[in-house]
Amino acid sequence: MKIDNAVELVKEKLPEKRFIHSMNVAKTAVKLAEIYDGDAQKAEIAGVLHDYCKYDDLGTMYQIVTQNGLDSDLLSYGSEILHGPVAAVIMNKEYGINDEEVLLAIKNHTTGRAQMTKTEKLVFIADYIEPGRQTPGVEEIRDLAYNQGSLDKTIYEISKRTVLHLISKDINVYDATIACLNYYNYSDERIKDD
Ligand SMILES: [Fe+2]
Ligand SMILES: [Fe+2]
Repeated sequence: MKIDNAVELVKEKLPEKRFIHSMNVAKTAVKLAEIYDGDAQKAEIAGVLHDYCKYDDLGTMYQIVTQNGLDSDLLSYGSEILHGPVAAVIMNKEYGINDEEVLLAIKNHTTGRAQMTKTEKLVFIADYIEPGRQTPGVEEIRDLAYNQGSLDKTIYEISKRTVLHLISKDINVYDATIACLNYYNYSDERIKDD
């Protein structure tokens, strides 16, 4: 799929605010790709498409999980966790996107996971730091991403904040998020930057 078609697709489907967010994520992912020697084209298209299913019907999303053999644990979560994995399926099956890195970046943009590819990392971080985000402490994360030279440290700090936030609200934490947190914990000497 060409980038213009991806933009058009998202523009038609998502409310304006979410469309602007999607474009911001794409731009931010490209900026990070330039800093970290990533693939800007893959980062851009994954950024544009990552929230394509954000507001899809939950029942339909559960069906997609079941019919496509996705992790059955997803059925215990809501659209916040499902919209990434479901969008990756839709982009592959309905729109013919075959690039594994792009699909993984869409799939895992909310939760992260252990051993992410470069494109996954770029989109995961871009989703958190795009200029429209005003989460408390986001400036620290922007500084880490843009000035401190480590995608992995940035991922760890995002995961840590996300997990702490979820726990403070008594919201269950999806397994991949915990795996991501542990894998990118740079205080643990097993972790190597890559
Ligand atoms: Fe999302
Ligand atoms: Fe997003």
